[in-house]
Amino acid sequence: MNPTHDNTGVKIDQVVSRADRSEFSSIKSIVMGIVEIINNPDSTVQELKQIIETDPPLTARVLKISNSVYYGGRGRIGDIEQAVIWIGFDTLKEIALNQKVCELFRKEERIHGYSRPLLWRHCVCCALLCKYVYKMEFNERGENAYVAGLLHDIGIIVEDQFLHTQFEQVLQRCAGGDTNLQDAENELLGYDHMQVGGALAKRWCFPDELVHAIEAHHSPDRTPAQFERLAVTTYICNHLCQKSGEGYKDAPRLDDTLYSESLKLLGLHPFSMEIIVEKMQQEIERRTRRGWL
Ligand SMILES: [Fe+2]
Ligand SMILES: [Fe+2]
Repeated sequence: MNPTHDNTGVKIDQVVSRADRSEFSSIKSIVMGIVEIINNPDSTVQELKQIIETDPPLTARVLKISNSVYYGGRGRIGDIEQAVIWIGFDTLKEIALNQKVCELFRKEERIHGYSRPLLWRHCVCCALLCKYVYKMEFNERGENAYVAGLLHDIGIIVEDQFLHTQFEQVLQRCAGGDTNLQDAENELLGYDHMQVGGALAKRWCFPDELVHAIEAHHSPDRTPAQFERLAVTTYICNHLCQKSGEGYKDAPRLDDTLYSESLKLLGLHPFSMEIIVEKMQQEIERRTRRGWL
């Protein structure tokens, strides 16, 4: 499908431009800043502190959650530097990113089984799974994997906000559970949320690996070999989210063959995935109990 042609009269570039000038721009600089820090091995605590502190409500939320992580909310951590000492640089990046991105997912309206909070739950589950696969299977920190999982469906939010009428029709087409979101989008819009999300990620100058993961999370076979691992991991984790029934389902019709081939490609075992899903569900339960989700 040529992404410049569509059935709505609105091209991907136009949709992404609208998003870029809207409330998306309020999360843009902080998300871009954190992604840059993650991808620069020389980045410092001071840089993260500067980014978080440009946004006082975000600073307050990050400190509140940092306190509850280890102290049951007794409020011992008073600034970002202390938070890094007590909970670690990686955890703090994750908390800040979560708190900023979730601003886009607040509206409660439910349409044909979709709502932003349900999509948010799906994205957090996917982010945790991606991180655990990198940590437990590849022995890496998995920070970029967390970002890929958290933002893989960002294109859905763009469509929800800027093509709302058409997006409702897409959801209606998926309502029976037999059609995947991607297929309904291509049929009705002429493009899908992977292409929209990928275009936004490019505009925000994300690293190529992240752009490809967002752009191919339902079709990892499209990815060039050097970016394959993160794209395939994101695909696998999205598939696992659908199977475990957490949050919104963007692919209710599962392709078990592609899933098995993807596991083989990365040398992953189905049993290890079960352990990882269990770990994710425990973490989601913990976050839900504490009101972080
Ligand atoms: Fe998706
Ligand atoms: Fe998804």
